Amino acid sequence: MKRVDDFRLQLGKHELVPIMIGGMGVDISTADLALEAARLGGVGHISDAMINTVSDRRYDTKHVKEKLALYKYNVLNEDKSSVKFDLGRVAEATKLHVEATMTRKQGSGLVFINCMEKLTMNAPKETLKVRMEAALDAGIDGITLAAGLHLGSLALIADHPRFHDAKIGIIVSSVRALQLFLKKTARLGRLPDYVVVEGPLAGGHLGFGMDWAEYDLATIVAEVMQYLHNEKLAIPVIPAGGIFTGSDAVAFLEAGAAGVQVATRFTVAEECGLPANAKQEYFKASEDDIEVNQISPTGYPMRMIKKSPGIGSGIRPNCEAYGYLLDANGKCSYVAAYNREVLAHPEARKIKVMDKTCLCTHMRNFDIWTCGQLTWRLKDTTKVLADGSYQVPSAEHIFKDYQFSTDNQVALPDTPAA
Ligand SMILES: Cc1cc2nc3c(=O)[nH]c(=O)nc-3n(C[C@H](O)[C@H](O)[C@H](O)COP(=O)(O)O)c2cc1C
Repeated sequence: MKRVDDFRLQLGKHELVPIMIGGMGVDISTADLALEAARLGGVGHISDAMINTVSDRRYDTKHVKEKLALYKYNVLNEDKSSVKFDLGRVAEATKLHVEATMTRKQGSGLVFINCMEKLTMNAPKETLKVRMEAALDAGIDGITLAAGLHLGSLALIADHPRFHDAKIGIIVSSVRALQLFLKKTARLGRLPDYVVVEGPLAGGHLGFGMDWAEYDLATIVAEVMQYLHNEKLAIPVIPAGGIFTGSDAVAFLEAGAAGVQVATRFTVAEECGLPANAKQEYFKASEDDIEVNQISPTGYPMRMIKKSPGIGSGIRPNCEAYGYLLDANGKCSYVAAYNREVLAHPEARKIKVMDKTCLCTHMRNFDIWTCGQLTWRLKDTTKVLADGSYQVPSAEHIFKDYQFSTDNQVALPDTPAA
């Protein structure tokens, strides 16, 4: 019976354990988590979601405070179009995070950065270009283009000296999205180095509508592989979404996938950025506690634990401090929803906003507990401790469980010393 370790993911000259830990913003897939994947011979991701905030928290910069001071005059204004990012600061924050990560890298694996197109930051092209260029300058091994079709993204960095040397991949949820991307980027003389095919059971935002349950990862992966075969394109395909055991991964590898991308199993790892109480909520969640809803201002459906503290919260929009989801015209659908509720309840001291959420604030504070569909199985991957809490395993334990397990078994972590 085969194990994941019987396969290798070949990316250029790199021969890797075919396990990629997916990007999880905002700093849920920490540098520590990504570095463990690399040390163990696989691929880890950091994320550049809300990078200025992450930089403040980790490297003691003052980007958020100073941006808020600059735009404080606008806090009560419905029109957020004047709230702009300083591109120099975005570059600085990205470089700090990437450099601090890459200088600690050990082992034969790789560390990539997850770049979401939907973080439009009131100037989509300019900010995305700076984010990607800064990451390349700072020595990132690769960039995974996420949350968007990225039709113009590669062209933004085509002149960068590392354009051909860094690994660049894209996440798609359909063969159509991949076709569009390849068509748009054909003239740049560069194919993606890998394609992550993310199915409907993944965490974070979904590349499907609310009819997500009608889709199936294995079918989409087969379609993508058939298309690439027909076009004679040798691009590694990496399925993601609901791959919970080593055996789940082996099934895809035997069907021709080059590797797998996983995330949910690692949300409860020691090295994962979620606070301890949130990790316990992930463990405790039952299937009924998980929903896909439409409260993300990005417009994409998002999966989360129903009792996430951020759901229904009616806090004042924080675009002057954050503003990562302001579109090219300075608009965010949470701002509109918030203002509607304020108008409807002029006397209320506290309002509720049910249809949208201030995703920047709540992801920054770990109050939206986004998760994969199989989060309810996490409780079966660990032990209950004497105090009734679930034992938090190490990333190494989870990684090796994927790498070496057979028969759909999940190895429980060793009982911690008393
Ligand atoms: C907590 C969490 C946060 C995520 N955040 C992001 C993100 O910021 N960008 C992204 O492209 N994918 C994100 N994802 C998706 C993962 O990178 C990955 O592709 C997917 O969850 C794999 O499926 P699995 O969780 O069932 O293993 C997130 C997933 C989780 C569980």
